[in-house]
Amino acid sequence: MTITRRDFLRGAGAFVGMYTLADAWHSARASTPMTMPARTSAAMLAPPKVPLINPTSLARFVDALPIPSVAHAESQRTHPAYPGRKLSYHRMEMRECKISLHRDIPGTRLWGYNGQFPGPTIEARRGEPLLVEWINALPSKHFLPIDHSLHGAEHDKPEVRAITHVHGARVSAKNDGFPEDWYTPGHSTLYHYPNGQDAATLWYHDHAMGITRLNIYAGLFGAYIVRDDEEQALNLPSGDCDIPLMLCDRLVAQDGQLYYPVSDDPAAPWVMQCNGNLVLCNGKVFPYFDVEPRRYRFRLINTANTRFFDLSLSHDQPLQQIASDQGLLPVPLQRARIELYPAERADVVIDFSAFAGKAVQLRHQAEGILEFRVRDHGRRDSSTLPAALRGVPRIDPQSAVQNRILTLNETDDANGNAMTMLLDGKRWSDPVTEKPRQNSIETWSFVNLTGDAHPIHLHLVRFQILDRRPFDLFAWNAQRKLLFTGPAQPPEPQELGWKDTVRADPGMVTRIAMRFEGEPGRYVWHCHLLEHEDNEMMRPFDLLPAHS
Ligand code: C2O
Ligand code: CU
Ligand code: CU
Repeated sequence: MTITRRDFLRGAGAFVGMYTLADAWHSARASTPMTMPARTSAAMLAPPKVPLINPTSLARFVDALPIPSVAHAESQRTHPAYPGRKLSYHRMEMRECKISLHRDIPGTRLWGYNGQFPGPTIEARRGEPLLVEWINALPSKHFLPIDHSLHGAEHDKPEVRAITHVHGARVSAKNDGFPEDWYTPGHSTLYHYPNGQDAATLWYHDHAMGITRLNIYAGLFGAYIVRDDEEQALNLPSGDCDIPLMLCDRLVAQDGQLYYPVSDDPAAPWVMQCNGNLVLCNGKVFPYFDVEPRRYRFRLINTANTRFFDLSLSHDQPLQQIASDQGLLPVPLQRARIELYPAERADVVIDFSAFAGKAVQLRHQAEGILEFRVRDHGRRDSSTLPAALRGVPRIDPQSAVQNRILTLNETDDANGNAMTMLLDGKRWSDPVTEKPRQNSIETWSFVNLTGDAHPIHLHLVRFQILDRRPFDLFAWNAQRKLLFTGPAQPPEPQELGWKDTVRADPGMVTRIAMRFEGEPGRYVWHCHLLEHEDNEMMRPFDLLPAHS
């Protein structure tokens, strides 16, 4: 049996150390014909040129978990979009920085908002608009391998470009961070965020055309938290017991520097997936966090390029999930495990009251990635975990004015190795085909023709998952006919809240419903596996004005 690169990449669930990466390279090589004309075959993964850190060699839980600082408003300003109001004005400067990922790892070059990794947390309140000036103060050369054969990253484009998007924000097109609206070092853009939406854990990150995967990998992301009175009235854990926890992974070399995988074709270094050897919690490898024997709220955000997280606690301790991407669930859910695909969020409450003097670990699969050390400092816990959180009225799919069928495709080479992933068989530059009307309800069905799960994200709107249903791939390929082979599966309980990113499983039709509220304009939808997004698995959509 030959192991293809795909098998390797697909199986890459656990830590990938230097040895497995090299092994995969050798087996990928072994299955490649001697000569291949350029671009008719998928490039193979090249071996790393530098020795990577073996995660088993690292001391566990020797660094404190970093809590990103809260972004403070520099001043109060007026803005023409909100006449007569004074708004908080924030400056966020993207710049190069050197960060310690672990006590025993030499300082790592990163790009961070305000020189921090993750960037400062932006705190917003529902109904209180705010201003952010996003400043590109990055160096003029990129330190990660740009693929100039990708659309939008050609040789005539500047190497370093940036544009920030707040993931999950209901914001006008001009302030949403359209991928082609990037700008170069020395420039900035002033965005305004109305925050006219329910309390939720959002996050901001770079979105520059063709290099998003590299810019986010370099460190350009942070949390954006929307709060509201209704949620506050629930008396959930708050203040220093309400913590954003951003999870990602990176390939880190023994000299402490980031390694981003490349193919064996120097003219086209893009690879379809990037899994790291180290998992980072708020930018630290294997940190610890001192907690008190009480309830905490953690806002889990998967900020990884490719990796999904399979999270659980030691001691068979359950997690109480209270929110998903776009805010509170109807009721708290007791969960033994929580799976998060890239860009998905889950807010959880963990009760440490039975663990005074002990340690509890947060695990990804079997591996402890963060240790909670429980010490009693005599502070009383007055928070609660109510039995009901917030109603999520179901959207009736019958009220949809459009039911779109959209495929997730992959073009393979002769060996079955993926070269490009597409949405509905179209490229980014093809004419816009999704043109929903403002305030109308639509259902979108993602017909996954590939062998992998893809987290699909829509800008601007929040949606509900209707169902997932197995279909006959052969019938589709033969006659473009959608033939179901089993009953529709309802969403899982934790998927009954508002979402902005949905896992579209292979062999399934994943159906979502949404009302297109927001300002008319051009937005995007895409796969949130960043390597896919950068290589054509992203499409614009136009929100058309409502009929008057
Ligand atoms: Cu998380 Cu298009 O974004
Ligand atoms: Cu987004
Ligand atoms: Cu994808």
